[in-house]
Amino acid sequence: MAHDVLLSVDHLTVKYGQHIAVADVSFNIHRHDFLAIIGANGSGKTTLIKTMLNLKTPQSGSITRQPNLRVGYLPQNFNLEDKSFPATVYEIVSMGLINQKVFPKRLNKNDRFLIENALQEVNIFPLKDQRIGHLSGGQQQRVLLARALVSSPDILIMDEPTSALDQSMRQQFFTLIDHLNKNHGVTIVLITHDLAAAGDYVQRVLYMDQRLMFDDTFEAFCENPQLSPFIHTHPPHPKEARDD
Ligand SMILES: Nc1ncnc2c1ncn2[C@@H]1O[C@H](COP(=O)(O)OP(=O)(O)OP(=O)(O)O)[C@@H](O)[C@H]1O
Ligand SMILES: [Mg+2]
Repeated sequence: MAHDVLLSVDHLTVKYGQHIAVADVSFNIHRHDFLAIIGANGSGKTTLIKTMLNLKTPQSGSITRQPNLRVGYLPQNFNLEDKSFPATVYEIVSMGLINQKVFPKRLNKNDRFLIENALQEVNIFPLKDQRIGHLSGGQQQRVLLARALVSSPDILIMDEPTSALDQSMRQQFFTLIDHLNKNHGVTIVLITHDLAAAGDYVQRVLYMDQRLMFDDTFEAFCENPQLSPFIHTHPPHPKEARDD
């Protein structure tokens, strides 16, 4: 495995029963990449990253990670409706460390330092004692980001992190991700329906339709007459109105 390849996907096929969700997909993720995975609803994006995270077993093909690779993950459809959910921001972020510790589960001084750093990194330190259910969608998303960052991941995989955010919150979120990529060297893998907003930051685009239909730079994607309309016309979700 080349030294700057963090994760390699090789001829990956993933099924649910007889249904093929991901078909013969191959690509490499390099250190410092900022890549977007796009594609219509049901095109296999979430299945692909779940398999990359070992949450799903492939039918055939393989995933190879660099040894000791630390991966942070923001799952799709996190939406905390329950305002009385008892955990505080600090507790949620600390779970990013506790999940990794088999035993003991007590936080030590270094853990607390890491948690405070992560809270500051995403500008939510003043909210640390608030209950997560009392926060706005954008703030909740930052809490999840801090939870993913607390274990200092080499690579951050996010599944539609901005779908519940309004336009200005989206921009703020992408600016923050970009900062992590440029200044902290975090490799970014972003599933998004919002390439128009993310386009200022994305370096590379993977377009999925079960198979990997396209894998090249953002510029090459925009210049491709068959694909570039996707940037402007793809609806975020079937039920939502198109914004073009
Ligand atoms: N748990 C499951 N059981 C059976 N089929 C599933 C399951 N999860 C996903 N699928 C199917 O696998 C295919 C790929 O789904 P996946 O969720 O990976 O797509 P996606 O690109 O992430 O879609 P979206 O943009 O809507 O999030 C779809 O046809 C979907 O219906
Ligand atoms: Mg999905």
